[in-house]
Amino acid sequence: MTPIKDRILFVTGANRGIGKALVQALLDHGAKKIYASARDIKKIPDFKDPRVVRVALDINDTAQLEAAAKLAYDTQILINNAGVLSNVTPLTGPFADLERDMKTNYFGTVAAMRAFLPVLEKNKNAAIANVCSIASFVNFPFIGGYCASKAALFSITQGARMELTAKGIAVHTINPGPIDTDMARDIHMEKTSPEETAKAIIKGLEAGEPDIFPDAGGRGMFEVWSKNYRDLEASVAASMDPAKAA
Ligand SMILES: NC(=O)c1ccc[n+]([C@@H]2O[C@H](COP(=O)([O-])OP(=O)(O)OC[C@H]3O[C@@H](n4cnc5c(N)ncnc54)[C@H](OP(=O)(O)O)[C@@H]3O)[C@@H](O)[C@H]2O)c1
Repeated sequence: MTPIKDRILFVTGANRGIGKALVQALLDHGAKKIYASARDIKKIPDFKDPRVVRVALDINDTAQLEAAAKLAYDTQILINNAGVLSNVTPLTGPFADLERDMKTNYFGTVAAMRAFLPVLEKNKNAAIANVCSIASFVNFPFIGGYCASKAALFSITQGARMELTAKGIAVHTINPGPIDTDMARDIHMEKTSPEETAKAIIKGLEAGEPDIFPDAGGRGMFEVWSKNYRDLEASVAASMDPAKAA
């Protein structure tokens, strides 16, 4: 279980979308202190709460990660939420976009875990929660590089769980389906609000779910995948086939 009340959390990408909604939901759930971080500190909303500490952090910047871990020495729960998405197919889109997705979603998040590990090892009942995606389980070719980066992140999180459970650090993956944020602006599927998603993430953390599926869309896809992963692949393929979609 990863309880939230009276705990000290660090959230990346807290200026908008799921990260911003998470900070508010964590405050509502009685968190003791929240380090809300963003690349541009000026863009972090005014949560009108003294429990929020604003931190400038680009997760691709090693020096900033080291400084953040030093400043937030009392962090008990690290929520790696920051991420990017390139709307390109990996086979024909710009290669730089594939690298960008992998750099932030995989290498940047792993770097954040590494920077905060000594802090979490020192503090009691610590946890890491990495925002992966339902795209960790199936590749949507029109955002294929993003999906690959999230599959990589899911994999390394699974490995971290095996290593860190023995040290008393809980490790969660969070796997949303389509959520109504800037990132999913061009994805035309039914979407869940970031606020509802944030509440469900907290519920999953508090229940001690190793892999959290916070929204109905993602949960539905995971259920199909669990029965037969090829069925989910087939349904994604069918949704892209103009003949079948008509
Ligand atoms: N929306 C969905 O449908 C969906 C589904 C599954 C998973 N997710 C995941 O949920 C997480 C949050 O996404 P969202 O939907 O809330 O998207 P969003 O509104 O686009 O927010 C992305 C956040 O990540 C930050 N970020 C990007 N690169 C960063 C970096 N190098 N260092 C620090 N922060 C960085 C952004 O900051 P800036 O404002 O500076 O760019 C922004 O705060 C992501 O990991 C995403 O992959 C989203």
